[in-house]
Amino acid sequence: MSPHDPRVESALGVSEAMRRVELLLRQVADSDSPLLITGERGVGKEVAARFVHQISTRADEPFVTLNCAAIPDYLVESQLFGHEKSAFTRDPELIQIVGQLVGAQARHHGYAERARNGILFLDEVGELPMPMRLKLLCLVQDRAFTRVGGETTIETGARIICATNIDLTAAVTEGRFRQDLYDQINVISVAIPPLRDQTDDILPLAHGFLRDFAKAFQRNVKGFTLEAEQALLNQPWPGNVRELRNRVERAAALSRATRIGVNVLFSEAPLATLAAVRDRAERQHIRAVLPDAENRIDEAAKRLGISRRRPPGQGSPPAPASTPPHPVRPKPRSGGAAAPVEVTQASPPDAVARRTVSRGKTRGFGQQRRLASRR
Ligand SMILES: Nc1ncnc2c1ncn2[C@@H]1O[C@H](COP(=O)(O)OP(=O)(O)OP(=O)(O)O)[C@@H](O)[C@H]1O
Ligand SMILES: [Mg+2]
Repeated sequence: MSPHDPRVESALGVSEAMRRVELLLRQVADSDSPLLITGERGVGKEVAARFVHQISTRADEPFVTLNCAAIPDYLVESQLFGHEKSAFTRDPELIQIVGQLVGAQARHHGYAERARNGILFLDEVGELPMPMRLKLLCLVQDRAFTRVGGETTIETGARIICATNIDLTAAVTEGRFRQDLYDQINVISVAIPPLRDQTDDILPLAHGFLRDFAKAFQRNVKGFTLEAEQALLNQPWPGNVRELRNRVERAAALSRATRIGVNVLFSEAPLATLAAVRDRAERQHIRAVLPDAENRIDEAAKRLGISRRRPPGQGSPPAPASTPPHPVRPKPRSGGAAAPVEVTQASPPDAVARRTVSRGKTRGFGQQRRLASRR
């Protein structure tokens, strides 16, 4: 069975956060209520929606996707609700445009109708054109719609799942998204975390992709070098899982070695700087110390021999005798500046470990080199 098989646990990821996401999705899979999936680009919102479909009692019904950002405004309504044969006869310009794309001369069944009792997945719902938002509200509320140019109300048994990578609550506050529509589509919501916050998922995903692509490209690739794995863990992954998948695909296509090296994986990226390597080692060490300090920042800071700094506006705690009143930001040196270390607030270990920090003293370059060679 594949690790991404919906029948096995941890189908979406092995990290604590992804397990929680998966558990919630399993709990609500058979509900009829609208589901809103949020998260940055490429985190796997559509993967999550398809997962819900596969494990639900709707699995044998269609999963129909409409990307609200990818269809021109004038087509969204007829694509979503379909149209009657005569719908555009009074608008010759529109009949020409729509006719070329969806066949305006005949009755057209839209996505809502084609979803039948399955799932209608509205991707990038925040991009839905303004006039369509009221119509979507009616669809979600009444579970019924009318084809463009039609008079008959058609009921739908499809479950509606929406996805967005924009902050819809902020959009509502700023008047860019209807509050009533937001309330309707947000009955159950799940937020998929960015990959950079789920480092536990990076290597299992990367190995899974590598297996798939090695098979597809008929390559004898067994895995990654240790250096490549470390580099995978260090990336910020702004494009999230999609970026990881694309990078592994490219490496699998290019590499002739049995283990993929860092140069193939990140051929365009410069070698990690000493500061970045040190920062990573510091983060790992902080992460390791925090559980022993019961996640108490003061205690962890004491054990680590660093100063605790508070977020701006909350005043500064008294500095230990050996620590200057303000964090010293060391001057950059050749070979990389000492990374400042600063723990700002109580958070889960992983989050804390990622914060930028400020050390009271600067290491000499020789010491930096010795440290780097040890890591
Ligand atoms: N948990 C996962 N397991 C395996 N592959 C995944 C996972 N999550 C995402 N992917 C892969 O990453 C890519 C992006 O996933 P998806 O399209 O679901 O992201 P998205 O959040 O909908 O992106 P966008 O915001 O751009 O629409 C796809 O190729 C998908 O196969
Ligand atoms: Mg998507």
